[in-house]
Amino acid sequence: MVPEDVKIEINKNPEVSELMELFRQTDWAKNRDPDKIGWMLAKTDMSVCLRQDGKLLAYGRILNDGCFRGLLDDVVVEKSVRGQGFGTLLMKTLIQISEPLEVLFLNADPKMKGYYGKFGFSAFQGITMVRRKKSGG
Ligand SMILES: CC(C)(COP(=O)(O)OP(=O)(O)OC[C@H]1O[C@@H](n2cnc3c(N)ncnc32)[C@H](O)[C@@H]1OP(=O)(O)O)[C@@H](O)C(=O)NCCC(=O)NCCS
Repeated sequence: MVPEDVKIEINKNPEVSELMELFRQTDWAKNRDPDKIGWMLAKTDMSVCLRQDGKLLAYGRILNDGCFRGLLDDVVVEKSVRGQGFGTLLMKTLIQISEPLEVLFLNADPKMKGYYGKFGFSAFQGITMVRRKKSGG
């Protein structure tokens, strides 16, 4: 279980440098430009950070319009503490703060179906399409 001294921060942006440390541990965000992460944070108003002794150990955010739609994104737990419930606490808190939204979407690798299924997500019966910039993540 997550240690008792883990602190939950809601809608409070982390520093770019500490977020980059977590992003380096992901496939999709490891090469993100620090300046752009700063711009990203400036436009992010729904997010959760988990910290222990001040150290950022987990992060997730929801891009949203405040009432109808949200996209859960950038869910990541620091490698050294995975498997201890941080991901569960992060998801439960993200879902709590998403309460004003009617629908929450996410895009994930199919192997994550079981993980997100635990939190009430199910496969979307439609098509998901994407238009990427050549360099886009
Ligand atoms: C996915 C991730 C956030 C889970 O964090 P975590 O702290 O290890 O999660 P928890 O310890 O709370 O585990 C919660 C449950 O999910 C399961 N789980 C963890 N990672 C999983 C995975 N990749 N696939 C399926 N189930 C997974 C655990 O076995 C556990 O199951 P249990 O409740 O039956 O014991 C973490 O592994 C991570 O940051 N991965 C790299 C980034 C990533 O893939 N993010 C998701 C992008 S879509």
